[in-house]
Amino acid sequence: MAVILKGTEVRDALKKSLQEKIAKLGKPPTLVIIQVGDRPDSNAYITQKKRLGEELGIIVHHRVFDTDVAEEVLLSEIQKYNKDETVRGIIVQIPLPPHLNKDRLLEAILPAKDVDGLTARNTHALFTEQTGHIPATARGIITLLKFYNIHIAGKKVVIVGRSHLVGKPTALAFLKENATVTVAHKQTKNLASITRDADILIVAIGNPEFITKDFVSPGQVVIDVGINKNKEGKLVGDIKRSDVEPIVKALTPVPGGIGPMTVISLFQNLLDE
Ligand SMILES: NC(=O)c1ccc[n+]([C@@H]2O[C@H](COP(=O)([O-])OP(=O)(O)OC[C@H]3O[C@@H](n4cnc5c(N)ncnc54)[C@H](OP(=O)(O)O)[C@@H]3O)[C@@H](O)[C@H]2O)c1
Repeated sequence: MAVILKGTEVRDALKKSLQEKIAKLGKPPTLVIIQVGDRPDSNAYITQKKRLGEELGIIVHHRVFDTDVAEEVLLSEIQKYNKDETVRGIIVQIPLPPHLNKDRLLEAILPAKDVDGLTARNTHALFTEQTGHIPATARGIITLLKFYNIHIAGKKVVIVGRSHLVGKPTALAFLKENATVTVAHKQTKNLASITRDADILIVAIGNPEFITKDFVSPGQVVIDVGINKNKEGKLVGDIKRSDVEPIVKALTPVPGGIGPMTVISLFQNLLDE
């Protein structure tokens, strides 16, 4: 049976060092979260960020705008928080309604305050030796593997999913860690033979329990990024745990795996020097 890699355990172990960093700042830092509309998934993610932020002693300022808000209004809010020295991080919660230009809004955030790591400047840092904020899920996966002493350099890492938010930055972050990276997507042929060949398999597709026993092999470390509801309304990942757990070496659960790692990584980004 697989070892379960518990993101909750790693998150709890990291809390203390973040609290020490906050104490050294002398006053609590502020994180601003800008939300447009009232999507239930966004509400759930923001609640988790607020909960952990408050536990750590961070001021989380949650601004909610109507779904039909004008882009210029949001841009001027972002500019205001860019200039505000008490604000250390700004998040624009995505997805946004279709009338808003996501890239323009994200790009308006000062790279130093872009704790989601989605601006061009922070993305570019993943291509180079420069330092920048690594997108939280990518950072969270690497932190979790290191915590459990799972070596990355030289390993065959297969990432299924190539989104701007998860798949692509995770691929670049693992390349920076000297893994040999393959990125798969909907048009990938023979997906199961590619995933079975991985040492570390990372799945971020948003397709409930898509990865079954046919996609994995013994000795693998399997990371499930997916957060989905199945037909019965239960929270499940992209991996069918009951199928995969008896075969692989290690596996992240859903919930309690990469979700908590993403949230703690966001605060690590916020508190980085
Ligand atoms: N744990 C966390 O903290 C966290 C954070 C963010 C997201 N998530 C979850 O992670 C999942 C993915 O999120 P996302 O934002 O990356 O999703 P996304 O933007 O919808 O991207 C999904 C990616 O998966 C690929 N894909 C979908 N079905 C596939 C299939 N059957 N075979 C191969 N590739 C397939 C797509 O390929 P194409 O490019 O070819 O369309 C796309 O690249 C969701 O469940 C989301 O809720 C979790």
